[in-house]
Amino acid sequence: MQKPDVSYGVRIIGCGSYAPEQVMTNDELSQRVDTSDEWIASRTGIRARRIADPTKQSLTDLATLAAAQAIESANLTPQDIDLIILATSTTDDLFGTAARVQRSLKADRAVAFDLSAACSGFVFGLVTASQFIRSGAYQNVLLIGADIMSRWVDWSDRGTCILFGDGAGAVVLQASPQQDNFLGFELRTNGQDNSLLNLSYNSDRSSFDYITMNGKEVYRFAVKMVPEAIEKSLHRSNLTTADIDWLILHQANQRILDAVGDRLGIDRAKVISNIANYGNTSAASIPLALDESVRSGKIQANDLIVAVGFGAGLSWGAAAFRWG
Ligand code: COA
Repeated sequence: MQKPDVSYGVRIIGCGSYAPEQVMTNDELSQRVDTSDEWIASRTGIRARRIADPTKQSLTDLATLAAAQAIESANLTPQDIDLIILATSTTDDLFGTAARVQRSLKADRAVAFDLSAACSGFVFGLVTASQFIRSGAYQNVLLIGADIMSRWVDWSDRGTCILFGDGAGAVVLQASPQQDNFLGFELRTNGQDNSLLNLSYNSDRSSFDYITMNGKEVYRFAVKMVPEAIEKSLHRSNLTTADIDWLILHQANQRILDAVGDRLGIDRAKVISNIANYGNTSAASIPLALDESVRSGKIQANDLIVAVGFGAGLSWGAAAFRWG
């Protein structure tokens, strides 16, 4: 590929999402483990989650449906897409799922790869996509965040199974010679605390374990580290938290959303939340919330959005951008 002599701006020009039809409410969950709607709702804000059909719905299916919607809303066709990045931790194939999505979309020109950064995957993907665009390498990039967490949850562990759900969301980023709407980012990893949240390979069983988590410590980490990342992502464009129109945090726990917003003095009405309906959908949670807010008319062109992912790794990252 020839090296371009200009640096391109980045615009996010379309979005889409998909969540499986099957709803599992807290009451239904409390028939499987010793818990209650009251306990789950008061500790997490979650009321229900969507569950992919284990025999009929693959990660490829969820990702493809969200992606097709994003491409359509960007007024493009799959043939226009140069690069597909699929952020996921619950792949259909350990060799990667992105190529299957490319095939399903018939996006024949696109190169496709998976990106694995757990619940930070979508934000890490946004930054990765924007670098390919800035350099002039690619014009149209499809970024998908999709996860089927229900595959890897221990349904007898009430400490984790109440939190997670399945879904997919996607955006299309485009190179723009005139305008740059991708304003700044901050990405971080702390491998020292890797053991707080895992989905590890177990050599004794020759397979992967279920999700294991130290909930209290993960909660503390999020509330401590996320506000700083938000401020740093804005600082690079001389913006402050007062300029934020919409804060889209990874939907892990309503109490984390409230605590982060309060710590930064951001009005709770600006902190987007759909966790009640979906729970924690990992890499899908930010694009799902973004897509719902764009379709409902909440998010308007040029609004300043900060998206923040955080989770296993430990990893966390914030990206500041204007919509459209
Ligand atoms: N229903 C009823 N009781 C439950 C329960 C459930 N689903 N899960 C735990 N409990 C019980 C515990 O056994 C404990 O009982 P005990 O005091 O008799 O020992 C009590 O409730 C408190 O448990 P604890 O784990 O201290 O609760 P918590 O207030 O820390 O809430 C989480 C647990 C998981 C909701 C919370 O820690 C959390 O959300 N952490 C962040 C996790 C996260 O977001 N992870 C993903 C990041 S990407």
